[in-house]
Amino acid sequence: MPEFVASVDQGTTSTRFMIFDHGGNEIARHQLEHEQILPRPGWVEHNPTEIWERTRSVIESTFAKTTLTAADLAALGITNQRETTVVWNRRTGRPYCNAIVWQDTRTDRIATELERSGKGDVIRRKAGLPPATYFSGGKLQWILENVDGVRADAENGDALFGTTDTWLLWNLTGGKDGGAHVTDPTNASRTMLMDLETLAWDDELLSFFGIPRRMLPQIKPSSGHLGVTRAGGPFHGEVPITGDLGDQQAATVGQVCLRPGEAKNTYGTGNFLLLNTGHELVRSKHGLLTTLCYQFGDDKPVYALEGSIAVTGSAVQWLRDQLGIISGASQSETLAAQVADNGGIYFVPAFSGLFAPYWRSDARGAIVGLTRATTNAHVARATLEAICYQSRDVVEAMQNDSGVTLDVLRVDGGVTANQLCMQMQADVLGVPVSKPVVAETTALGAAYAAGLAIGFWKSTEELVRNWNEDRRWQPSWTEEQRATGYEGWKKAVGRTLDWVD
Ligand code: G3P
Repeated sequence: MPEFVASVDQGTTSTRFMIFDHGGNEIARHQLEHEQILPRPGWVEHNPTEIWERTRSVIESTFAKTTLTAADLAALGITNQRETTVVWNRRTGRPYCNAIVWQDTRTDRIATELERSGKGDVIRRKAGLPPATYFSGGKLQWILENVDGVRADAENGDALFGTTDTWLLWNLTGGKDGGAHVTDPTNASRTMLMDLETLAWDDELLSFFGIPRRMLPQIKPSSGHLGVTRAGGPFHGEVPITGDLGDQQAATVGQVCLRPGEAKNTYGTGNFLLLNTGHELVRSKHGLLTTLCYQFGDDKPVYALEGSIAVTGSAVQWLRDQLGIISGASQSETLAAQVADNGGIYFVPAFSGLFAPYWRSDARGAIVGLTRATTNAHVARATLEAICYQSRDVVEAMQNDSGVTLDVLRVDGGVTANQLCMQMQADVLGVPVSKPVVAETTALGAAYAAGLAIGFWKSTEELVRNWNEDRRWQPSWTEEQRATGYEGWKKAVGRTLDWVD
């Protein structure tokens, strides 16, 4: 058997390709960003053709850094930004419009109407999700209603829907010359269209959004045979594609949170805290999502509770791109470290409304508590604190829903390079924060799913042995500091609600 497994990680801001060995160690990678298209306030789009071109480039550039070829890869896994909605024509291979990104809030009215009509409760019960702009169903409805020709083509079977895993899989396996139109249950569980118990598209849910079933991909296990790369594509050879997971579920696998009660928090554009609940489908009473964690082969599916936070790392980008008070993400740490505390200010970055546990699309961002003494350093510090307080909100909800008390929080993602922020996270939560040596848990998780399917890894025990701690942060605040700080945060959140009618 070849000695390596690879994965494509198609994220919100960039796409990367990584090759791993049997020990889960990184052998090579390449990464490229794509454009964030912001045509109107609240709208966020990506160009699917650009994403496919970037994917081709990162694969070819990674191989160019090594002596490896497709023949050295035992399998390929795909992982992706979830919910982002692509619709394309199966005959031309061309998308009808830009992808509508998970952060986009244009479907606010669709979500409100679902709630008003009582359909929201059916969606909660069947799909495990509250009706919100975040998920794919409303985005697909919007495209069907607003983009010329899509509805007719969808009804005659020419228009295909997919999240970006499906888009890439279809292109990698041949595109308009017979590409596989498939997804996995973790991605399907983010659409509001799949029944969480049967893992099948649900006709009643489809009818809420007016979606023809013919446009939907086939749902296959997250670890299992999905297709083979075409020799004419970026691999210049045939590699079995045997893993497909949404990026947060992939990170959960990469962190080997494979037993009920184990949780990880990924700090990317947003934050996503997932708690493995095993074969039990736990319905949240505290604003979390019930979602698929993974389905490996014919095994029973594993579920998770998820706390999704829309804006964390992207708030740091906002300091750089919109306010211009830092020139790079790492500067947020040095700037915030210039002051000992937040100076009484709180920043609630509700740019896309508030996700878990509030689910308020009418919220908008606020910085509260400003005085004449407030400086850029306080704003930077409040931004990092906002990342941590939002995570505390979802940890509280998770503990209330599951009865599981975290004794350690496993973390990964770009922001974990920020030492100050990770120390704050331990302080704000009052539990230690632990980071693994291989921080690329998302790409690793997709590689694990792919490798397990073909026996490259024989069992999940092998994966558990690959996990090693790199760094641990211990809480240093007193209980009183923690309580006062959190009280201020909750008050600030209250100021952001009801902003939009
Ligand atoms: O649900 C959205 C999430 O999958 C995006 O993750 O890392 O691409 O920002 P990321």
